Amino acid sequence: MGAGTRGQQVEIVVVDQGAFGEAALEHLLRATGGVARPVVGLATGNTPVGLYAALRARGDAAWIARVRPFAIDEYGGRGDHPCANRAYFASHWEAIPGAAAVEQFDPDAPDRAAECGRLAAALRAAGGLDLVVLGIGRNGHLAFNEPGSEAGSMAREVRLTEASMDAARGCWGDETPETGLTLGLAEILGARTALLLANGAAKAGIVARALEGASGPGCPASYLQRHPRAVVVLDTDAAALLRRGAGAIRRD
Ligand code: PGA
Repeated sequence: MGAGTRGQQVEIVVVDQGAFGEAALEHLLRATGGVARPVVGLATGNTPVGLYAALRARGDAAWIARVRPFAIDEYGGRGDHPCANRAYFASHWEAIPGAAAVEQFDPDAPDRAAECGRLAAALRAAGGLDLVVLGIGRNGHLAFNEPGSEAGSMAREVRLTEASMDAARGCWGDETPETGLTLGLAEILGARTALLLANGAAKAGIVARALEGASGPGCPASYLQRHPRAVVVLDTDAAALLRRGAGAIRRD
């Protein structure tokens, strides 16, 4: 791959859909390569599936074993539900040979506020995130930091927006949770590297808004414009509405 160009401080990489998982992996390895025991925040959803598949195909169990993985969010539904993020991690992350169990929210905990505090404290004790892998909601959310979330927000239980519940309904159906447990923007934006992934035409509008619109709580992903080390990996469809033009930043 050739060199990408840097915007303000955000590095934007645009690749064909077929190269998406590999490109995401390249940037994950670049950000964590020099770290002995990298602490990595992991997104769920459709977007990072190719990244986890690429990690598995890489077959480096010794390296994967060094990663200390943290979930960035969880649904406020039953923890043993097949659509819970813990089921996703079991099949996409923990199935990678060598991978450690993900440290994650327990939505069945009797006191969810205390549970959010517990995971946040474990993350702080680990030294914070070296890298966070992020998807972007069509409403601009990062993890379950929905529009309106402030940059200083901490791990907490939140009410999901209609947009997030609609996205969840495809899997959860009538059991769609109304809340989510999430790391706050403070913990997420505190990551030394933020790696945002987006693919598909349905994300083109929100990607353009996040990267080129005003930075603020109306679109939490727009806070990445202020991050000291943000890398955004897009496929050509998700990059299609960037004003600077996908062609100018394309690298494949
Ligand atoms: P998706 O979800 O990867 O399934 O599109 C992204 C998100 O809502 O953060």
